[in-house]
Amino acid sequence: MNNFIFQNPVKIIFGRGQTAQISAEIPKGARLMITCGGGSIRKNGVYDEVTAALKGVDYIEFWGIEPNPSYETLMKAVEVARGERVDFLLAVGGGSVVDGTKFISVAIPFEGDPWDMIKRKIKPTAAVPLGCVLTLPATGSEMNGGAVITRRKTKEKLALHSPLIFPRFSVLDPQHTYSLPPKQVANGIADAFIHVTEQYLTFPAQAAIQDRFAESILCALIEEGPKTLANPTDYDSRANLVWSATMALNGLIGCGVPQDWATHMIGHEMTAFFGLDHGQTLVIVLPGLLWVQRDSKRQKLIQYAKRVWNIDGGDEDALIKQAIDKTRTFFESLGLSTHLSELGVTEDIFETAITRFQSRNMLPMGDSKDLDADKIREILRLAR
Ligand code: NZQ
Ligand code: ZN
Repeated sequence: MNNFIFQNPVKIIFGRGQTAQISAEIPKGARLMITCGGGSIRKNGVYDEVTAALKGVDYIEFWGIEPNPSYETLMKAVEVARGERVDFLLAVGGGSVVDGTKFISVAIPFEGDPWDMIKRKIKPTAAVPLGCVLTLPATGSEMNGGAVITRRKTKEKLALHSPLIFPRFSVLDPQHTYSLPPKQVANGIADAFIHVTEQYLTFPAQAAIQDRFAESILCALIEEGPKTLANPTDYDSRANLVWSATMALNGLIGCGVPQDWATHMIGHEMTAFFGLDHGQTLVIVLPGLLWVQRDSKRQKLIQYAKRVWNIDGGDEDALIKQAIDKTRTFFESLGLSTHLSELGVTEDIFETAITRFQSRNMLPMGDSKDLDADKIREILRLAR
């Protein structure tokens, strides 16, 4: 196990009716801005719950943070927040609203062009604190210090990481997820699943706890995911799904182990150029990536086959192939396509993505730093 430092400061407020707690979490006299997406929270009652909980608190609202939140929209929010001297932010929505609000929080006090924090990796030094009421289990953003922001003009989708953007608190009420369309539930299951595989399907690091935690999250997603799709108001399945997604990317299973974010990196380019949903891009990339990388990932793939899919016997390659096939079948059973051609993604994405990675000095990538341009071409060919 490698050395690590683990500190996660997010207060999780989990369960039925917990939105009522938020006013106690927001400092008295705060100049609050609530940030929202395109309107789902008005239809499912979450907005009403939040405003009821904020009775007596002064706040303004910013609407219109879109899926794959854009720098362009977020800078409008920054302008409003600066003008109103906002000193606390409350994100109400899915990962995009939470990520967008994280960017707003560090952009408000930033001197200069806030995009530099993303593109040029200039570290933010101050942030307006934020809390969140989550409505979509997927990204783990509710309990991590990351955000992914898109610049529409240049079709760039890039991440920001800072300890300053951990939410102060996150309300996770599984009932808030009942209204999700099946496609978003499936995207969320896939995203959480692949957050785990990016931290688990690497090479052995003698990290028994992290491995067993990772496997338990994968098994929970495989068991509970289909139940939520079949019965959207099954509270217990929803609760397990919400907590699985949070645990998948709150830093815990990544402690002291190698990580491989290549599936995400390739997926982000597909979203940047074709607008595909985040979870959707990942299930296109992962099966091919695991197959192309089967030599450097061999031991963990065999462990995955045995412990997660209960496959045994046969030669190693056959075992690995079966595990990958089961993974693909699981994603498809959720209603997601695992093929580029079914989603209107043209093959020029192969070279576009590779050229971008080369210009950013990202190749070779992966946990063993052996994923080069030719392998990316092969992965995408397998995803046709
Ligand atoms: O905008 P509204 O009207 O709210 O509708 C949203 C949106 O259209 C809707 N929705 C959300 N909750 C709902 C609901 N509809 C009905 N009922 C509800 N309860 O769902 C749509 C998608 O929402 P979005 O927030 O975009 O989805 P998700 O949570 O999957 O977030 C995706 C974004 O997170 C980034 C992705 O790249 C993408 O930009 N990620 C963030 C990460 C992080 N911060 O650590 C890690 C991830 O790997 C990921 O990259
Ligand atoms: Zn993700």
